[in-house]
Amino acid sequence: MTLSSTRGISPEQSAREEELAARVQASFDSCRDPRLKELMQALVKHLHAFLREVRLTEEEWHAAIEFLTAAGRITDDRRQEFILLSDTLGASMQTVAINNDVRGDATEATVFGPFFVEGSPGIEPGGDISFGAAGEPCWIEGTVSGVDGDPVPGARIEVWEADEDGFYDVQYGDGRVAARAHLFSGEDGTYRFWGITPTPYPVPCDGPVGKMLEATGRSPMRASHLHFMVEAPGCRTLVTHIFVRGDALLGSDTVFGVRESLIKDFERRPPGTPTPDGRVVDGSWTQVRFDIVLAPSDVRG
Ligand code: BEZ
Ligand code: FE
Repeated sequence: MTLSSTRGISPEQSAREEELAARVQASFDSCRDPRLKELMQALVKHLHAFLREVRLTEEEWHAAIEFLTAAGRITDDRRQEFILLSDTLGASMQTVAINNDVRGDATEATVFGPFFVEGSPGIEPGGDISFGAAGEPCWIEGTVSGVDGDPVPGARIEVWEADEDGFYDVQYGDGRVAARAHLFSGEDGTYRFWGITPTPYPVPCDGPVGKMLEATGRSPMRASHLHFMVEAPGCRTLVTHIFVRGDALLGSDTVFGVRESLIKDFERRPPGTPTPDGRVVDGSWTQVRFDIVLAPSDVRG
């Protein structure tokens, strides 16, 4: 406990609280699953330390129960408020960090987010993932390699992003499939495709997590990003994003997903600038390079 929270608490009171915390922990002593036992005992230890540190009032306990109840009520097949809570408390990102340990120059992972959809359309190299989604065209290219520097051919690259209004296709609820696709790296590990320049958008904030963000003066906005999931045999699956250098939200991404190594230069080309594949684009477009390095799959995570 911190000094301030122990101030004014008698030794008798402290002993009573400690005895209870120890007794709850001991209630798991005979759990036959050692991992479950470890998880439950550590949870009780830290939960009781939290309750004692903040000297939780009974009103606050009720408010917390109401908050969790509201999160449960709004959660269904399409809306997962508990994951959003985990995201906004940084717990998702911490779990990602723990499970994607540093391995040479392997590309850093970040949060998965709720908008991935199985069964995206496939595109050829140089194809367009936008399928009519509104936004400034963006040419994305790079290589997929292993930590040894060797190219990884045939890697499956899933990409998905919001449109310029900040909405994923699934949020329109009309069955459209846009701004998502998959493609494969070539024999030399290279890949390229057209997408749209990422723009910022808020996480769903019409539920209890939104209220929590508002009550605490936090922004619901995510920094502009483009999602990637890259899979190849013998490699650890990489779930990540790239972020836009210069985006004002990089320092305040509400799910703590930004890693310095994932911030890329999206270079804006004025209207009329020839494109890498000769496509004629109306207006400006951007160009970004993202070289992906996959960790071997023999490591944890
Ligand atoms: C997203 O990137 O789409 C996202 C991630 C976490 C929470 C909400 C949205
Ligand atoms: Fe996203």
